[in-house]
Amino acid sequence: MQPLAKALRQQGVDPDLSHLIDTIGKTCKMIAQHLIQGPVNKLHGCAGTLNSQGERQKQLDIIANDLLKQNLLAQTLVSGLASEEEEHCVIGDPKGRYLVVFDPLDGSSNIDINVSVGTIFSILCAPEGQIDDQSFLQRGHNQVAAGYVLYGPSVIMALTTGQGVDMYSLSQDGNYYQTRHQVKIPPHTQEFAINMSNQRFWDTSMQRYIAHLLEGEQGPIGKRFNMRWIASMVAEVHRILTRGGIFMYPRDNRDSMEHGKLRLMYEGNPMSLLVEQAGGVSSTGNTNIVDICPNDIHQRVPVILGAMAEVKRVITYHR
Ligand code: AHG
Ligand code: MN
Ligand code: MN
Repeated sequence: MQPLAKALRQQGVDPDLSHLIDTIGKTCKMIAQHLIQGPVNKLHGCAGTLNSQGERQKQLDIIANDLLKQNLLAQTLVSGLASEEEEHCVIGDPKGRYLVVFDPLDGSSNIDINVSVGTIFSILCAPEGQIDDQSFLQRGHNQVAAGYVLYGPSVIMALTTGQGVDMYSLSQDGNYYQTRHQVKIPPHTQEFAINMSNQRFWDTSMQRYIAHLLEGEQGPIGKRFNMRWIASMVAEVHRILTRGGIFMYPRDNRDSMEHGKLRLMYEGNPMSLLVEQAGGVSSTGNTNIVDICPNDIHQRVPVILGAMAEVKRVITYHR
């Protein structure tokens, strides 16, 4: 099995970019240790603070954010970073080539019940000149690398540098080894993921699609579906990259959900690049997510991603 650094070298990935990915991998190993020690070290529960979007922060959200911030800012390669847990970007080394955007702990409502969570990351090239929030507002297509680290029964990194998607598992020896190469999402599926409790808030296109899907063999889609909802996007995308499926977090008519719940820069874009690189599709229902020109680092976006034929079907319901 190939260690991460060697696999990246063989793929001809820029050594600076490989070094940055390696730093993220090592930091995620530290985050995994904190997650394991969570109950013993009394790290479960809320921190008593809100992030810039008004969401309650967990203690481990803050620990994961601080570790990533500290380790990335120690790299002269990083000229700035943006995070779910930071209101504005944080400036790094003025000579740095890269910007890093991350969701330090995704699915953090699952921490206290010991269900899978993850870290999502996106790497962009730094523009010339002074770095500010504007520097990060680049389309998802611009990402030079994107991935996540899933903290489940095992710790797994899924990564793309624009040459397909590979997976690396963390071994007890402290290294990540390539355990899956060139992952592909089958175009057809009979498994969907959506938070059904929001059904009455969706728009009519989404209502119609899910109603037809629930009709199974007798309905217009003509096949039976199974459903999953983990409430941790990393775990849902990992399932889809592993055995296929479709994941949806559409916009709805609850307060502040008119653009969906998930954030474009550190959830939508990195997951969309991974899915596209694995042969799937990722859309808002109207637009490819990686084509969106962002207007805010915390902008929200409706997300429909996974199996190509099924996502295209959802898009036809939106027309
Ligand atoms: P985060 O923990 O980073 O705020 O993200 C949670 C996200 C995503 O991972 C998941 O798919 C979704 O929120 C779950 O939302 P519901 O609780 O509304 O189902
Ligand atoms: Mn998240
Ligand atoms: Mn988070």
